[in-house]
Amino acid sequence: MQFIITGGCGFIGSNFIKQILHRSEVTEVINIDLLTYAGNRANLDSIESDPRYRFIQADIADILVMETVFSQAFERSRGSIEAVVNFAAESHVDRSIKSPHDFIHTNVLGTSILLAAARKYKVKRFLQVSTDEVYGSLGPSGKFSETTPLHPNSPYSASKAGADLLVGASHHTYGQDVVITRCSNNYGPYQFPEKLIPLMIISALNDQPLPVYGDGLQVRDWIHVEDHCEALWQVLTRGKRGEVYNIGANVELKNITLVEEILSYLKKPTSLITNVADRLGHDRRYAIDSSKIQQELGWKPRWEHQQGLATTIQWYLEHASWWEPLLQQ
Ligand SMILES: NC(=O)c1ccc[n+]([C@@H]2O[C@H](COP(=O)([O-])OP(=O)(O)OC[C@H]3O[C@@H](n4cnc5c(N)ncnc54)[C@H](O)[C@@H]3O)[C@@H](O)[C@H]2O)c1
Repeated sequence: MQFIITGGCGFIGSNFIKQILHRSEVTEVINIDLLTYAGNRANLDSIESDPRYRFIQADIADILVMETVFSQAFERSRGSIEAVVNFAAESHVDRSIKSPHDFIHTNVLGTSILLAAARKYKVKRFLQVSTDEVYGSLGPSGKFSETTPLHPNSPYSASKAGADLLVGASHHTYGQDVVITRCSNNYGPYQFPEKLIPLMIISALNDQPLPVYGDGLQVRDWIHVEDHCEALWQVLTRGKRGEVYNIGANVELKNITLVEEILSYLKKPTSLITNVADRLGHDRRYAIDSSKIQQELGWKPRWEHQQGLATTIQWYLEHASWWEPLLQQ
C-alpha cells in the first residue's frame, strides 16, 4: 500500500509516519512537507534510510507541483495510491491571530488542491486530520459529538473548519471517498516548543516564568500523540466513507492544573507561574465525546495521563539537542 502523507515533518505527522512504517503492508510513504518553522526533518531521522520512505519538500497549495507529485506517485503505484493523509497545516492559534492569511493559504487552499489531485489520480481515500476546535467552545458541561454544529472562533479553527467543509463537499459532489477526524489536544515527543506542554516544560527547566493565559481556568482535553496516530490508522483503514470521527482520551484538565503537574514533576516552584493577558477570543473549554470511534472501530486510548505526561517530560529532558535550536525560531 502506497500512502501520500502531507506535513509529515511536523509533530503528529512524524509520529504517524514512524508508526505506520512498522506495518508490513505499507510499501511506500511519500512525505510532502514545505518545512515551515514547524517542520523538522530531524523528527524522522530514525526512518530516513528506510527504502519505503520518500521526502518531497513542497507546498501543498502549489497546484503545479502537486500535479507533478501526484502523477509520479500514480505511475509508481500503477494507478493505485491507497490514501492521502493530510496533516499539513499552519497549526498555532496565536500565530493565526497575528497573521491569518498563511492559514487560509495552507489549510484551505492547500486542502482544496490536494482533494482535486487525489480525485484526478484516483487515490482510494482522503483522510483529513482536523481538530475539535472547529466546534468552538463549550460551557461547563457537555461534550462535542460529531453532530455538534461547527462554530470556529479563531482564524486557525475557522480555516480548519473551511477545509472540513471542502472535504465534505467533495464527498457529496464528486462521490470522493473521504474521512475526517477531529481530535483533541495532543502531547508527546517532537511537539514544537511554542505549544503549551513543551513551552511549560522548557521554561521550567530554564527557571524562566511560565506564561499562563488569563486565569488559567481554560479546560483542554488531552490525548497522547501515539493514541491519536493509532486512531487515525483505524479510521483510515476501517472508517466509513464520508464520515467524521471524533478522537479524544477523556482527560479534561484546566491549563493551570496541567502547568502545576509539570512543575511538580520537575520539582520546580509554582512561583514560576506568571499570569499574562488572555489570548484574544480564547475558547473556554473543549471536551470530546469519542464514543463513535470506540463503538464502531473498537479503538481506545492506551496511554494513562500521568504516565504519558511523565514520559513526555522525560523525553524533553533527554532531548535538549532537539529543542534548543528551535528556540531561536
Ligand atoms: N497538535 C494538536 O494538538 C492537534 C490536534 C488536533 C488536530 N491537529 C491537526 O493535526 C495536523 C498536524 O498538527 P501538528 O501539531 O503536527 O502541526 P505542526 O505545526 O507540528 O506540523 C505541521 C506540518 O505541516 C507542514 N506544512 C505547513 N504548511 C505547509 C504547506 N503549505 N505545504 C506542506 N507542508 C506544510 C509544516 O512544515 C509542518 O511539518 C494539523 O492539521 C492540525 O490542525 C493538531
